[in-house]
Amino acid sequence: MSKNISQQLMSRLINHILANTSDEVDDCLTEPANFFTDINRFKKERQQFFLDTPQLLGFSGDVSEPNTFMTFECMGVPIVVTRNSLGQLKAFINACSHRGARVADGGGNKKRMSCKFHGWSYDLDGDLVGVPSSQCFDIDKASCSLTSLPIVDHQGLLLVGLSQKVSKEKLNEFLVPLDSQIKEFNFAKLKNIAVRKFEVAANWKLVVSLSHESYHFANLHRESLAPIMTSHSVFDQFGMHTRWAFPLKGIERWAQKPRIDWPKKLPGAISHTLFPGTVIVVNAQDAQIIRVEPGSSVDCSVVYYSGGCANSDLMEESLQAYNFGGDIFANEDLPVAEQCQQGIMARQADIIIGKNEPVVQLWHRLWRGELDS
Ligand code: FES
Ligand SMILES: [Fe+2]
Repeated sequence: MSKNISQQLMSRLINHILANTSDEVDDCLTEPANFFTDINRFKKERQQFFLDTPQLLGFSGDVSEPNTFMTFECMGVPIVVTRNSLGQLKAFINACSHRGARVADGGGNKKRMSCKFHGWSYDLDGDLVGVPSSQCFDIDKASCSLTSLPIVDHQGLLLVGLSQKVSKEKLNEFLVPLDSQIKEFNFAKLKNIAVRKFEVAANWKLVVSLSHESYHFANLHRESLAPIMTSHSVFDQFGMHTRWAFPLKGIERWAQKPRIDWPKKLPGAISHTLFPGTVIVVNAQDAQIIRVEPGSSVDCSVVYYSGGCANSDLMEESLQAYNFGGDIFANEDLPVAEQCQQGIMARQADIIIGKNEPVVQLWHRLWRGELDS
């Protein structure tokens, strides 16, 4: 058996295509409507799953060199990640000590960050180093540093903690169950190329579920995805994280060829989902991240869809892959999640998750298990 993870997945997928099967489970699962409408559950999920759990911000390629920075937003918190001149990785709340405006936008290469409101400036260690008209401020600069957050770069993935409960140790351990699986994807090479933000009138769990079953491809994505992808898929669980993969049409032709000639990257998509639902989609070109967060109430969520590019010479292709997936997600998937929320609230009856939606079932069990344990 090949050691290459993509080729192992390809082999399992080809077997499914040839046998006209897919990874399935033995039973359906039902879930009551209040799983998506209960305010207390929503509040607990928000705290436990998002604020007290490591969150994936993006790929680390933008902050791999000394004197670089990159900005993000996570759970409403503006964040700037820096790599100082000594190569140390840091993260701060991107909010000026003067009156809270942002001290950095976008990303880039520089040694100082300057707030655009009144010009207070900070070095990449978050220390306040410049105050225009400083005679007007009776402050101790040392006590006006940016507020730091714990962060690690785990195999090219930037993981941050938003509450006291997320220690550096917790950040370091979070992805260990996935380590052997993600190594070959070399996420550290990826630079963030673009991000789209959506506000969606649906519970965050309904939005996460969109990215975990291919049962809907033939119908909802009849004209976009279905002509090129099959709905055969394979899934695996690694601790509190999952992997789900599905192929482009026609990969079964590789069954006739020696394994040595198979492509190194799966002709298809491999989705690694980090608890509680952040998806890293690896495709033949590059990778995208879909991070779904609870919004301001139980029936709304905030979604960030971002793209990564491994080779700036192939930026066009990366943008194409990013836009292809993003347009389908925005125009076909997200509107249907809003319909589901509205329908669930109106019906107040159980929903049903099929045997052919095993990863959605798995996530429902993980969410329930974690919160109710
Ligand atoms: S808010 Fe940043 S300098 Fe005033
Ligand atoms: Fe979809």
